[in-house]
Amino acid sequence: MRDYQNIINGIYEKAINQSEKGTVATYIPELAKVDIANFGIHLRTINNTCFGIGEYDTLFSIQSISKVLSLAYAMSLVGEAIWKRVDVEPSGHPFNQLALLEVENGIPRNPFINSGAIVIADILLSHLDDPKTDFLNFVRQLCDDDSINYNETVALSEKQTGFKNVSAANLLKSFKNLENDIDAVLDFYFHQCSIEMTCSQLTKVFYFLANNGCCLQNKLHLTNSQVKRINALMLTCGFYDEAGEFAFEVGLPGKSGVGGGIVALLPDNFIITTWSPGLNKKGNSLLGMQALEAFTTQTKQSIF
Ligand code: DON
Repeated sequence: MRDYQNIINGIYEKAINQSEKGTVATYIPELAKVDIANFGIHLRTINNTCFGIGEYDTLFSIQSISKVLSLAYAMSLVGEAIWKRVDVEPSGHPFNQLALLEVENGIPRNPFINSGAIVIADILLSHLDDPKTDFLNFVRQLCDDDSINYNETVALSEKQTGFKNVSAANLLKSFKNLENDIDAVLDFYFHQCSIEMTCSQLTKVFYFLANNGCCLQNKLHLTNSQVKRINALMLTCGFYDEAGEFAFEVGLPGKSGVGGGIVALLPDNFIITTWSPGLNKKGNSLLGMQALEAFTTQTKQSIF
């Protein structure tokens, strides 16, 4: 096996000594309180051997990383019918942009931009008895860890300031692409984004996407074809208008969140999570992207 610990140690040392760390997200006021100095890396191989450095056991707000999990849950419940309501094309625009949604008659470009994730939230609401509890249980089951939870303060903070998401939901409703009550859909969406996890919990939760749909507890959650679709969407849409750059530099399917987390994976090989709260101009973790570029370059392991 490659000397993963040595490699991530070297990447960590370089990152923490770098002065340019990006900017912590402030549009959700609670996120602005996080210390920019945090930096963690966690790697889990397909054999469940783990390597970590820095703050890989500290909880942070997973934000848009949750969109992969809500999509996986919706796919397991509804299957292909999802794609009548959400497209599978990169948007080439920021995650909260609304112009395309209007031009394209209320069909979001993909499930990872905010409007797309709000449609997925709506689908979950239509199919679950107790959506917030059921979704949390789905995530807990993937990780075999009942300690995972929503952060109510972060959810409320976004509810009080998430005006563009309110606009997105209204626009979707006007195009009849939202079945449920707008407030109920947004309440669910803000909660799913508020989930807190550590880097090591995230590599565990995402294990099923590197292992043909089967989680570490040996339960099959998705078919091979569904896993292929989700990984393809992470590669083409996981970083919004920086998806091309991430594929170019890192070469792995992955997903970012404005809490500063990034999860990336190489099917049948490993899952890696980085957390550094400073973001670049496109809303993706600045040091996280650099660390992952260094990792796939040094290990020579990417899908390309
Ligand atoms: O809806 C929002 O704006 C946030 N809850 C999530 C956005 C996000 O994480 C974008 N990712 N980089």
